[in-house]
Amino acid sequence: MSEIYRASTTAPVNIAVIKYWGKRDPSLNLPTNSSLSVTLSQSDLRTHTTASCSPTYNSDSLLLNGSPQDTSGSRTQACFRELRSLRSELEKSDASLPKLSTQKLKIVSENNFPTAAGLASSAAGFAALVRAIADLYQLTATPTELSRIARQGSGSACRSLFGGYVSWEMGSAADGSDSLATEVAPSSHWPNIRAIILVASSAKKGVSSTSGMQQTVATSELFSHRAKVLVPERMTKMKDAIKRKDFAAFAELTMRDSNGFHATCADTYPPIFYLNDTSRAAIRVVENINAAAGRSIAAYTFDAGPNAVVYYLAEDEGAVAGVFKGFLGEKEGWGSERGGKVKVVEGKDLDENAVQ
Ligand code: ADP
Ligand code: DP6
Ligand code: CO
Repeated sequence: MSEIYRASTTAPVNIAVIKYWGKRDPSLNLPTNSSLSVTLSQSDLRTHTTASCSPTYNSDSLLLNGSPQDTSGSRTQACFRELRSLRSELEKSDASLPKLSTQKLKIVSENNFPTAAGLASSAAGFAALVRAIADLYQLTATPTELSRIARQGSGSACRSLFGGYVSWEMGSAADGSDSLATEVAPSSHWPNIRAIILVASSAKKGVSSTSGMQQTVATSELFSHRAKVLVPERMTKMKDAIKRKDFAAFAELTMRDSNGFHATCADTYPPIFYLNDTSRAAIRVVENINAAAGRSIAAYTFDAGPNAVVYYLAEDEGAVAGVFKGFLGEKEGWGSERGGKVKVVEGKDLDENAVQ
């Protein structure tokens, strides 16, 4: 009987505070702007992936949350190809190694949070896929090298190879060799950041991130100002705010960037709307929390979906998470240390309770 080689791993979600939105090269998945994110605790939202290979497998396969996925797409194949090529180099240098690089791959993955709902499933998903295969192949690649491969699966995935505060520098090389994730600061630098995640809808989004950003690049007249002027300025200011642990600056930049990104979505023609009434109610709640505090102690951000992520500091737990929890009650959700409490919220609850 043929041997099956297998490796399992988990990867965390990261939620950008300066958003990636736009590709300058869709086939290599190279972005039009750099971006920056906070990696959430794996005790909250995570992907668990097992990669295996065997001479008995007839084709590559990917099972996501129990459903077979198409692996023939260029992005999944790009990850497979890059990882196989690194394994093949290893095999050439050591003839005693089993020839795994020519075998078909079987990937089995589970997300413990809503998939394709604007909570960065593609980020955790491709980071886990790349790391599971790298482990299976016993590669010595660094997280930075793996980030270059994961980026080709899903752009945001490159940032999930690191914990803490992570930037994805857009790079300038035509082959994408310098479009990589780097750690801006470890989580220990500013460990008291927390996030509450408000699941306004766990339904699959109508417009995928991949398609949405390409429509924006093609049709939005606001987009190029965002990519060329606003984001570069914000990247510098955000790195500085993190370095100085200045939450008020972090919060304003985060909220402005989320608003600006969604403005370019609305400026896409025809327009794309990811936010819903519940999302807007969450924005009002944060504005009221900050007004009551007299300074920004909470910062909302929305990816390509209606679900809010609200960052705050542990010392403001009562004034931020407490206020949200007061509205929402103790509903089903995920507990966390770094991720705060993640609550599954029905839209009407948040709307009815929003502080106007
Ligand atoms: P999200 O906001 O959740 O990142 P996207 O539109 O960017 O949504 O990407 C969703 C797609 O990412 C899914 O349809 C699937 O193709 C892929 N994906 C999500 N989770 C995984 C996973 N665990 N493994 C592989 N691919 C995944
Ligand atoms: C709004 O990384 O999902 O979440 O590269 O096409 O897979 P693809 O897109 P994806 O886009 C993420 C967009 C975002 C912002 C961000 O995470 O930076
Ligand atoms: Co995504």
